[in-house]
Amino acid sequence: MSLLITGIGELFTNDPAQGGIVRDAAVVVDGDRIAWVGPAGQAPAADERLDAEGAAVLPGFVDSHSHLIFAGDRAAEFGARMAGEPYTGGGIRTTVAATRAASDDELRASAARLVAEARRQGTTTIEIKSGYGLSVADEARSLRIARELTDETTFLGAHVVPAGQDPAGYVDLVTGAMLTAAAPYARWIDVFCERGAFDGEQARAILTAGAKAGLQPRIHANQLGPGPGVQIAVELGAASADHCTHLTDADVDALAGSDTVATLLPGAEFSTRSRYPDARRLLDAGVTVALATDCNPGSSYTSSMPFCLALAVREMRMTPAEALRAATLGGARALRRTDIGLIAAGARADLVLLDAPSYLHLAYRPGVPLVKAVLHDGVLS
Ligand code: NIG
Ligand code: FE
Repeated sequence: MSLLITGIGELFTNDPAQGGIVRDAAVVVDGDRIAWVGPAGQAPAADERLDAEGAAVLPGFVDSHSHLIFAGDRAAEFGARMAGEPYTGGGIRTTVAATRAASDDELRASAARLVAEARRQGTTTIEIKSGYGLSVADEARSLRIARELTDETTFLGAHVVPAGQDPAGYVDLVTGAMLTAAAPYARWIDVFCERGAFDGEQARAILTAGAKAGLQPRIHANQLGPGPGVQIAVELGAASADHCTHLTDADVDALAGSDTVATLLPGAEFSTRSRYPDARRLLDAGVTVALATDCNPGSSYTSSMPFCLALAVREMRMTPAEALRAATLGGARALRRTDIGLIAAGARADLVLLDAPSYLHLAYRPGVPLVKAVLHDGVLS
């Protein structure tokens, strides 16, 4: 079944061949792919027609970093933080206890609800990490459930050393039996490389073991303070170094000379009331930047890509166009995908129609539910 979309106020393509932002454009979708993009006057016939009524049309958001498999929430921790307590990452263990106590159905229902919430806000691709199980069985089931919701699943057994366990023994478990149990359900492997979590040597060992098991590396790097995470990401050819809040000039140079995307997660700085990463510095150095939500119950309990985009514009010195590109094409690059994040013939039919004439409204009207329709795999919702 083919669908012709007309009445597009502004088409944000991310495709330089089409001149980026196109006015008076039409799009034809055939099944789950975009079949044609061009001037409305030259549009071919299609089985059905959708009048966008002047809406701005964008690629679906690519949320390349989330932690959706968990139980419980940590609202009280958030409240305490807003009253002056620091964020240390120690609350991860609270969520681990709640997650282990939850049934498969409870975890599945909670994650599916969050994916649906994200979809209503325009997210058409979402990466989901494990990391609140931290036992062989709980990490494997977290990933099995995540895999029901997305192909972009990430094994994060190395989120934190569980209470009462010896760090070296836990790294052996993560690189041994836990990796073997997780690998069938995961595409990626990630490590929280940070003081209080895993150091550089441990991170390198874990990512290398993951790569041997067929998982591609990505890493939580330089979130709470400076550290070796970004350099390790570049050294191992990781798809993405995530957070990137505390960077040296050498870190920025290393990213600029690599294929590793810097994924910025401003929801985390918002929810921990901490300094935002300097997106301008990265962009000016030529680094590819992605924006994602980091949706998790501790440091960033938002599923909203539009909210993160607005923060990036206001707080991280990104232009609205740079932020939208980072939230779509940047996310696709962070997931090493060429079929999403853009509107061009052959790409997946993942589109967002805004209740606004221009993409600028995403940052200009923060907090307003501007997504009026989403096309995911060619299906309208
Ligand atoms: O990306 N940094 C590590 N993991 C999450 C936080 C997890 C939590 O606090 O539960 C993050 O911010
Ligand atoms: Fe994270």
